[in-house]
Amino acid sequence: MTTLLLHLSDVDEARWAARYREALPEVRVVRRGDAYEPADVDYIFVWKPKPDAFAGLSRLKAVLSLGAGVDALLKHPALPAAPIVRFVDADLTARMSDYVVAEVTRHQRLGTRFKRDQASRAWSQYYPPAARETNVGIMGLGVLGQDAAQKLAALGFTVLGWSRTPKAIDGVRTFAGEALDTFLAETDILVCLLPLTPDTTGVLNYELFTKLRRKLAGGPAIVNAARGGHQRETDIVRALGDGMLGAASLDVFETEPLPPTSPLWALDNCYITPHIAAISNVEAGVTYFAAIIRAHERGENLPNVVDRARGY
Ligand code: NDP
Ligand code: OXD
Repeated sequence: MTTLLLHLSDVDEARWAARYREALPEVRVVRRGDAYEPADVDYIFVWKPKPDAFAGLSRLKAVLSLGAGVDALLKHPALPAAPIVRFVDADLTARMSDYVVAEVTRHQRLGTRFKRDQASRAWSQYYPPAARETNVGIMGLGVLGQDAAQKLAALGFTVLGWSRTPKAIDGVRTFAGEALDTFLAETDILVCLLPLTPDTTGVLNYELFTKLRRKLAGGPAIVNAARGGHQRETDIVRALGDGMLGAASLDVFETEPLPPTSPLWALDNCYITPHIAAISNVEAGVTYFAAIIRAHERGENLPNVVDRARGY
């Protein structure tokens, strides 16, 4: 009998197990505390796996990642050679675009300026630029970046995108690799939707901020919904303080939870959310992975397999 092992930390594993059992009655679904033989496990579904998570899983066919981002999983010291399938889902993608559209719109509408005016009871009529006059640059044109780009373009924003390899996307001016500086020079609001890899670590740093277009009143803004490892928080604090950046929306942090001592908390031009931009919903997740397990058991190939050499 096919066996699926759940190994989830910091999420409601019992709820996922119950839904998997309903969706896959022909599969034996086990959790860490249950009696099972590690050598009988075919699939492991993971989030923040502990160091011994993969011990004894000698017939593993795939590692199924609850996260869309697999940077932490790839650093696991005992990661088996089995293919890693990451979560790619319309519900998660739509939630991420909701977050990006909300934060981009906040900055285009000069949210920080009017918040400050309100705090000082100032009635100061200043007109924000139209969406079409605002250039939004998206770093990362994968599943999430492309959806956000298309939704922003549909709202009238001028959208630019940057990726590792060249892309053609309707309504989006695309740049690749070495063209980063040209892309930045035309960007008012920078959105990071990159995977965290050795090449992208620390990309959101002070030097990069100096290359952004300085057309938006108050200064350019950044939105990071990818990983905290992309940002240098000391540089962000400096840039938000000296005006190199007008504002920042951050959903992810170098250390999570963000420590109470972080100076970011106190900055009125920093918009903090606790890594909730897009969650992996139980219904959507079980539907996706149950279909993958069934198809693979029928002999079909696994979709959305992580390329370990690329790191995403
Ligand atoms: P994809 O793998 O689909 O897309 C990644 C994109 O980044 C691709 O366009 C890729 O380029 C580009 N890229 C990778 N490396 C580089 C590089 N060195 N230079 C330029 N571009 C690069 O990822 P997703 O869109 O699905 O997800 C992106 C990230 O979002 C995840 O890795 C995860 O960390 C984060 N995330 C955060 C969530 C949250 O709640 N905050 C929720 C879900 C995901 P190319 O197309 O050429 O390969
Ligand atoms: C993910 C996340 O990668 O929630 O899916 O951050």
